Amino acid sequence: MLHTDALRPAPAPVDLRPAVAADLPVIAEVDGRAFGMHYSETDLDDVRLLFEPDRFLLARDGDDTVVGVTGSFLFDVTLPGGGSVAAAGVTWVSVAVTHRRRGILRAMLTAQHRGFVADGLALSLLTASEGGIYGRFGYGIATEHRAVEIDRRRAALRADVVDPGGVREVGTAELRRLAPDIHRRWVALTPGALSRSDGWWDTLLADREHQRHGATPLFHLVHPDGYVSYRRDNATRTCRIVEVITASDEAYVALWSTVLALDLVDTVSYRKMATAEPLAHLLADPRQLRTVEQRDGMWARVLDVPAALAARRYAVEVDVVLDVHDPFLDRGGRFRLRGGPDGAECVPADGGAPVVGVGMAALGTLLLGGGHAGALARAGLLAADDPAALRRLDAAFRADRTPQHGTEF
Ligand SMILES: CC(C)(COP(=O)(O)OP(=O)(O)OC[C@H]1O[C@@H](n2cnc3c(N)ncnc32)[C@H](O)[C@@H]1OP(=O)(O)O)[C@@H](O)C(=O)NCCC(=O)NCCS
Repeated sequence: MLHTDALRPAPAPVDLRPAVAADLPVIAEVDGRAFGMHYSETDLDDVRLLFEPDRFLLARDGDDTVVGVTGSFLFDVTLPGGGSVAAAGVTWVSVAVTHRRRGILRAMLTAQHRGFVADGLALSLLTASEGGIYGRFGYGIATEHRAVEIDRRRAALRADVVDPGGVREVGTAELRRLAPDIHRRWVALTPGALSRSDGWWDTLLADREHQRHGATPLFHLVHPDGYVSYRRDNATRTCRIVEVITASDEAYVALWSTVLALDLVDTVSYRKMATAEPLAHLLADPRQLRTVEQRDGMWARVLDVPAALAARRYAVEVDVVLDVHDPFLDRGGRFRLRGGPDGAECVPADGGAPVVGVGMAALGTLLLGGGHAGALARAGLLAADDPAALRRLDAAFRADRTPQHGTEF
């Protein structure tokens, strides 16, 4: 009988180098093979709007073939309380199928994240192709969303809800002009929300065929404080919502009221609804909003514990020593966090308050305000000797709005 280890290729020496602009086609080839897609010239032109070559790292094998890629985009991310920090959004992560499971991803992420630390970044973020990969690198689930379907013919707002009106139908060019300001106001209100550069707006609103998945080009509804972008799939009489961004409750009600008035639509589907949102409470029959899937959205990894924790606000006063474990980057240690609704400080310290042990991934889950410290403790990812300290930590870290990241990267 064959011993399976005998079939495993010996680890190949891999060498890493930063990308240059001319590497984009080969990066797209490696990424395309890994994700099962082909990039056209037009796709590459769209990517160039966002691509900063020196934020990408390539792994090469002996004969200079590119066998691995990782990159990042820079965002500002909103923290609970309204402050924000700069964060690296890790992206385009792929390793050639011929070179997998020999440590290339680990080597790339190690170099990349040491670079983030050297750049002084407090936080890195990503969205994961598979849920089992990134916990070992200190990432925890920080935003979640659900896919919902609404039976439009049976869904109506409660009789006592007054539609504030003010919604207009606009084309993509006009939305491109109006949306950035509305989006900025939404970002300021929403923990976890990512800033959007002009390059992002141009890419997202390019409205390419591959973004449509068989449905129409984009339609938009706009209110002074919000907008909805959607497509119609007329074969299935479905309105597929791409994005709902609102910076006031009036806009939220007015826009959903308008969506529910779309004749010739049986089903409204939206894949990115936050886990806690007002819509079900606005409906006369809340059951007409059905959750068909719930999944992780953005994962967060703290790179600088004092900087990240001091930049956010806390729902109630908290005074705790966090004993943070970080085998991947060794950015852990003991830190005393004193914070509340008006401010926070976090400094290296060994004692003076109850100690809570926490892994870096669990801290990432808590940072943006959507995590539950009590649930993490029950899962063995957080340990507090003092149950009162755990309850306070749980209450303090919760945000008053469910975190949402908004931009897929
Ligand atoms: C996921 C991928 C990048 C892994 O690359 P790789 O070079 O084979 O990974 P490594 O050998 O460096 O593995 C690093 C660690 O992650 C683990 N790992 C790798 N892929 C994993 C997976 N799909 N699920 C769970 N764990 C995984 C390894 O077991 C290893 O664990 P250890 O270091 O704790 O022992 C590669 O399989 C790939 O390109 N997949 C398709 C594209 C993709 O999903 N990219 C990720 C985008 S978010």
